[in-house]
Amino acid sequence: MTIWRFPSSGEILRVACGLPTSPKTLSQLLKLTAGLFRCVTLAEQTSCFDSTNLQNKSHFPPEKMIVEQPTLPAFSLPKQQAQAHSAPSRRLEKAEREDNKLKMSDRAAHQWYRFVLSFPPHLVRDYAEKFGLNGRHQVLDPFCGTGTTVVECKKLGIRAVGLESNPVACFASRTKVQWNIDPQKLLRHALTVADTANERLERDGYFEDDTQRLLERPVVKKAPLRTLPTEVTNLLLTNSISPLPLHKALVLLEALAEHHDDRFVNHERLGLATALVNGISNLHFGPEVGVGQAKRDAPVVSLWLDGVKAMAQDLEILPRGETPEAVIYQADAREGASMLPANSVDAVITSPPYPNEKDYTRTTRLESVLLGFIKSKEDLRDLKKNLVRSNTRGVYKSDADDSHVAGHQEIERIAAAIENRRIELNKDSGFERLYARVTKLYFGGMTRHLAELRRVLRPGAQLAYVVGDQASYLRVMIRTGQLLADIAESLGYEVVGLDLFRTRLATATREQLREEVVVLRWPGDKREKKGSK
Ligand SMILES: C[S@@+](CC[C@H](N)C(=O)[O-])C[C@H]1O[C@@H](n2cnc3c(N)ncnc32)[C@H](O)[C@@H]1O
Repeated sequence: MTIWRFPSSGEILRVACGLPTSPKTLSQLLKLTAGLFRCVTLAEQTSCFDSTNLQNKSHFPPEKMIVEQPTLPAFSLPKQQAQAHSAPSRRLEKAEREDNKLKMSDRAAHQWYRFVLSFPPHLVRDYAEKFGLNGRHQVLDPFCGTGTTVVECKKLGIRAVGLESNPVACFASRTKVQWNIDPQKLLRHALTVADTANERLERDGYFEDDTQRLLERPVVKKAPLRTLPTEVTNLLLTNSISPLPLHKALVLLEALAEHHDDRFVNHERLGLATALVNGISNLHFGPEVGVGQAKRDAPVVSLWLDGVKAMAQDLEILPRGETPEAVIYQADAREGASMLPANSVDAVITSPPYPNEKDYTRTTRLESVLLGFIKSKEDLRDLKKNLVRSNTRGVYKSDADDSHVAGHQEIERIAAAIENRRIELNKDSGFERLYARVTKLYFGGMTRHLAELRRVLRPGAQLAYVVGDQASYLRVMIRTGQLLADIAESLGYEVVGLDLFRTRLATATREQLREEVVVLRWPGDKREKKGSK
């Protein structure tokens, strides 16, 4: 068993079941973490060790290695992380077993902003290893979301490109691969911003918490709370943020703009996106976004600062300078990766949307609006139009992706079954009437994507698509992985297999829903080969 102690997130961060332990990957890991470790314990004996000077890996058999970190500058950890520090290893082992969770040892950069139930970094590692990827290869994630694939590839020393239509997710992914930042300077800058915001709040009669208010200012005439223009407020999920936390967030944004510094602004703004979702708002995720009980107040500035501190901690251990490039484009994956040269992608590791009624523009709405990525209804509509149709809220009259699966027997059968069930159950709302159509639009959109993708794939490229079965549309089962495999095959891909990632019990139908990895191989364009003879 290998135990790594990483500085950013606590005592023991990886208990090695999933850790690649071949000498090659071990040396790659050690290179990535060069200079960060102080001490190695081999079996019973301890020897001083600097990972920059590691010459002979065979002296350090991975099975018996314990690596400790040097003491870091004294940042106070956010509450959750501090608890994690003192967590007994039993708890960590449990976390390790929960396959879909972000492992403690993986938290650096991944934790900066993340969708609930995003696929875990270890899945990316598994497929990078299975596909034999290394620094000579380029990976594409065409539905890169919050960047799990691109971040993990960067950690593994593999070049990566991401495509993402949602501007806030795109911004998050881009920021999560920016590691050339001085963490201490980032933290100092954030403290200055926090001071400005707190002074302004106090001047106007508002405080981080009630104790401070009672102790410091018995009588202050409060300034009116800041609000958003009506058109912008209407974009938010109703009551997703209470008036006082909103006021504080707007003051913090003003302080951020006043102290704007190109070096830190992205990390600081991303920190606010995360704090909004995780503590400031009334939102909850389970995994769908919902609005819970309204909070009267929230310690907005300190929640934000805690997040920036956690980033600074991560930046202490993430390698600077020498890591491979990771580029994220705001682009529609159905239109192909036109910015990439032909035959330039060696592997795809991705989790596209599924036909499950999940609306990614709702799960990200609050931070999209407050950070200015969506300013109007038109912006929202334009964003939705660039997404694969996976929910009825994002279907438009002019949509035509269904034409790409016209005549596909199983998809036609599923759409007909959904429509018949709707009629049978007398379900007549506008949304329900769209269930059958959205299913065809979804698979049509994925067909377009897989067809366009072929141009950029190097012959022999390997692909992993993580998708789940669904029964969201009136309990008609949709075997997403199987259908995508069929579609891919019809487009000339080889279907290598469908690996089971995990199963979930559908509460409505009591059926096991499979979440699986559709593994494909692109053999090259056979028509081209024939033509060139
Ligand atoms: C399941 S999530 C991906 C999560 C991702 N693995 C992560 O690490 O966060 C699917 C993503 O696909 C994006 N998406 C949907 N349609 C798209 C399209 N046509 N082009 C690019 N991205 C799209 C959504 O905005 C969403 O972020």
